[in-house]
Amino acid sequence: MATLVINGPARLSGKVKISGSKNAALPIIAATILTKGKNVLKNVPNITDIHDLLEIVEKLGAKINFSGNTLEIDNTSINGNDPDPNLVRNIRASILLIGPLLARNNKVNISAPGGCFIGNRPLDDIFDLFEQFGAEIREEKDIYHFTAPHLEGKEITLRHMSVTATENAVMTAVLAKGKTVLRLAACEPHVQDLCRFLNKMGARISGIGTNELTITGVENLKPCEYSIVSDEIEAATYMVAAAATSSEITLENIETSTVEYSIFSKFREANVELEIKKNSITVKKSYGIKSVKKLWTAPCPHFPTDLQAPFAILMTQANGSTLIHETMFEGRLNYIKEIKKMGANATILDPHRAVIIGPTPLFGKRITTLDLRAGATLIIAALVAKGESVISQAEIIDRGYEGIVEKLQSLGADIKRG
Ligand code: EPU
Repeated sequence: MATLVINGPARLSGKVKISGSKNAALPIIAATILTKGKNVLKNVPNITDIHDLLEIVEKLGAKINFSGNTLEIDNTSINGNDPDPNLVRNIRASILLIGPLLARNNKVNISAPGGCFIGNRPLDDIFDLFEQFGAEIREEKDIYHFTAPHLEGKEITLRHMSVTATENAVMTAVLAKGKTVLRLAACEPHVQDLCRFLNKMGARISGIGTNELTITGVENLKPCEYSIVSDEIEAATYMVAAAATSSEITLENIETSTVEYSIFSKFREANVELEIKKNSITVKKSYGIKSVKKLWTAPCPHFPTDLQAPFAILMTQANGSTLIHETMFEGRLNYIKEIKKMGANATILDPHRAVIIGPTPLFGKRITTLDLRAGATLIIAALVAKGESVISQAEIIDRGYEGIVEKLQSLGADIKRG
């Protein structure tokens, strides 16, 4: 089990390069299954979730060359419909293989996926979606068997604005016969990036960035070269780290036009000054963080659940009280127990709500992360805290943050792997 040792308080300075988006790269890799020939993906983050997905696809027959942040992936010889259950159980994103494998081979046999411990993560929306497409689904010994010999465009309404349900729907519809209208579609920047990638391959998707997508099926898609959108969640994580430690840093390689407005809006409400340019963001040294009163998470265009926990650390340093209302996942407040050990004045009210009253000094402690975003959150808390913190189960953080230790070291943080 990996640990991180951090000595705070940190004063960060300098520049940090933001990586490509994990949650865009994962569905885009899955979408390459819809083509034969070599796709070249640039700005792919070098993180364990990507390696885990690539291992599954490679076992299905893909030829892969991943070097630096460039991924060459040739799926000409994919012949299997049975992603390895042992690998599928490692990551939630393996459900993204259902749509493309069904579109390519008309059937797929897949086990329930794994993923971060952030509460109950049902699959009912995904099943409902494929049933609306006319697929038959049968479960046998923990394996779900999907069959759909004749995929045709449909009018489909999702039950929630689910990210991976939307992505699966789009990947299924692009090669289906006729027109699909997808209502209550998620529109997060990573969903948009997948749609742009598919259109570059020759798909016909309109309504990108809205909650209603229209997809006109095409005969086939062609492989292409594409650069993954920058990761707004990683970017905002560094923005919180800078603001919470009263530091000034500049984020580079970030397409600011793709960042959700709700993120910038919350920083403004917290009195954090940002200098936003086309491809960079400078977080100015903050004087007097203000509490945002209510931090409410919901699908795009609202504040992203993936930033709820990191932003909470800023609120421990803010003047006033913040009500956190995590509407999407009931297991995403577990980090509160850890930051309380460090001195945060925080109370869990119920599985979806907590209150933080600031400002309070934080102190280094032995703490444990249960999920990816909670892990980044604890790193920020440890950068704010006085003294040594030791974070266990830190390997979880490598699932989604490329080179986080090295990036923070280059910004001047005293952080090392234990
Ligand atoms: N939901 C259902 N049934 C389903 C699917 C979802 O009830 O079949 C509910 C969920 O419980 C949740 C809501 O719908 O309350 C939305 O969940 P969604 O399906 O959008 O989540 P996801 O697709 O499983 C993706 C990201 C998550 C991110 C969420 C929300 C990927 C690979 N994962 O998950 O990312 O938190 O969207 O934006 O894109 C992370 O990066 O740390 C992470 C967990």
